Amino acid sequence: MAEMFIGGEWRRARSGATYPVVNPATEEVVDHAPLGGIEDVEEAVRVAKEAFPSWSKKDFEERGEFLRRGVEILKAHREEIVETLTREQGKPLHEAQGEFDHLLHGLTYYADLATKIRGSYQPLPSRFGPSYGLIIKRPIGVAAAIVPWNFPLTLMGTKIGPALVAGNTVVVKPASTTPLAAIKVVGYLNEAGLPPGVLNIVTGPGRTVGEALVSHPDVRRVAFTGETATGRRILELSVPHFKRVTLELGGSDPVIICPDADLDKAVRGVLIGRFWNAGQACLAAKRVYVFEEVYDTFLEKLLAGVARYEPGEGWVKAERPRIRIGPLHTAKQREEVQAQLQDALAKGGKLLYGGKVPEGRERGFFFLPTVVAEPAHDSRVVREETFGPLLPIWKVKDIDEAIRMANDSIYGLGSSIWTYNVKWIHKAAQEIEAGMTWVNQIHYGYDELPFGGVKQSGYGKEHGIEALDYYFETKSVVVGDLE
Ligand SMILES: NC(=O)c1ccc[n+]([C@@H]2O[C@H](COP(=O)([O-])OP(=O)(O)OC[C@H]3O[C@@H](n4cnc5c(N)ncnc54)[C@H](OP(=O)(O)O)[C@@H]3O)[C@@H](O)[C@H]2O)c1
Repeated sequence: MAEMFIGGEWRRARSGATYPVVNPATEEVVDHAPLGGIEDVEEAVRVAKEAFPSWSKKDFEERGEFLRRGVEILKAHREEIVETLTREQGKPLHEAQGEFDHLLHGLTYYADLATKIRGSYQPLPSRFGPSYGLIIKRPIGVAAAIVPWNFPLTLMGTKIGPALVAGNTVVVKPASTTPLAAIKVVGYLNEAGLPPGVLNIVTGPGRTVGEALVSHPDVRRVAFTGETATGRRILELSVPHFKRVTLELGGSDPVIICPDADLDKAVRGVLIGRFWNAGQACLAAKRVYVFEEVYDTFLEKLLAGVARYEPGEGWVKAERPRIRIGPLHTAKQREEVQAQLQDALAKGGKLLYGGKVPEGRERGFFFLPTVVAEPAHDSRVVREETFGPLLPIWKVKDIDEAIRMANDSIYGLGSSIWTYNVKWIHKAAQEIEAGMTWVNQIHYGYDELPFGGVKQSGYGKEHGIEALDYYFETKSVVVGDLE
């Protein structure tokens, strides 16, 4: 049975309760995790608060070193962590390896930044005698890191990395359905010699453990990734305490395929963009708009690519040219995608591929990659986030229509355009309402660039040097009486 890591020790829930973690490919139990409660949150926040004064005063270089050592320890346990991730989450092994490597890359990026943090100097008018100002940065305190199930490791890393190098202490709350690999990662990072209480993990339901963490008065910083509706609740709970909050939320990323696009590259970008992680990615390619001149050719190439996907257990390799696609993460997730597809079909959409559970896959939460053409633009696949392997496609006349339809969403996370026309690239960069536009590139969250949505997709940024700003409070200092 897995345990939580609190205050430098492995612990069960105070109540002794546990719950099963289910393998989405087989519906078998992978392991049991502690069903944490409010008292476990209290304890984790207490030890994190206690650890803060000395951790925040540690040399920046030393904090970076802890992270670097942690990365080396993680590398030695790559196989075990990747395998656990595949079994609890459902994603194919090569995708789990990709996620693990991305985690290490992100942690190393922040370890490298530890010694590059700067404040600033400001000359001041000599109204009260000569003086100057400094803007200094101070770590905030205990940070809560609340993580979803689709990328349990990278999305934890994007919070732990900047929080720790900036000098905060952390309590992680993984998604209930994916606690196991996250627990291992937190345990191994602690083996790097982190002082007890600096990095903790508490498992249990969002409604109790998550809310207790967000509302705890000693948690000063909340970093959340998950659904927009949950983000709204987290903001409501944080506002009375004026906590520093960042929210990375849902998306409905549009993709625009222009007539001059390299269609083979664009098709590859859309396939990976939509079907990676069985379509369960915030920045997945969720709506495709194709210029009419290339619509037929694009579709033909796309459908040939979609036919290569073979749903199956993540730990079984697909025979080339087949590509493995895992199950959806839960039965509820699959039902949601099925309902969105039915709505799209009822609103004029034409099913071009998939649309059902693959034959012989009655166990597990599998669903065929699915393509639907031209559903009405007020159908659920446009109004809501589609979090599964369901791709709607529309034909467009020109760039203005493409951008208008791209922007017809409550979301604004990512977006992409496939063209070499500099005017269209400029227009997309300026006019698409999103936190990110990829040009002739696959949708991917680079550690080096600030990432986060606009509209109902987000509040604040993760990744990049910019993420560090959310883990510091700035203070202005005036130094006078200089002569
Ligand atoms: N913008 C981005 O960077 C980004 C990246 C990845 C994913 N996402 C979004 O995340 C969503 C998928 O993840 P999900 O279904 O796991 O999201 P979710 O249901 O919102 O859950 C996310 C996390 O919040 C916890 N939680 C749930 N209710 C809570 C509450 N009332 N108070 C505090 N914590 C609470 C969950 O715990 P339990 O598991 O125990 O419920 C889980 O740990 C999608 O919408 C996706 O687009 C966004």
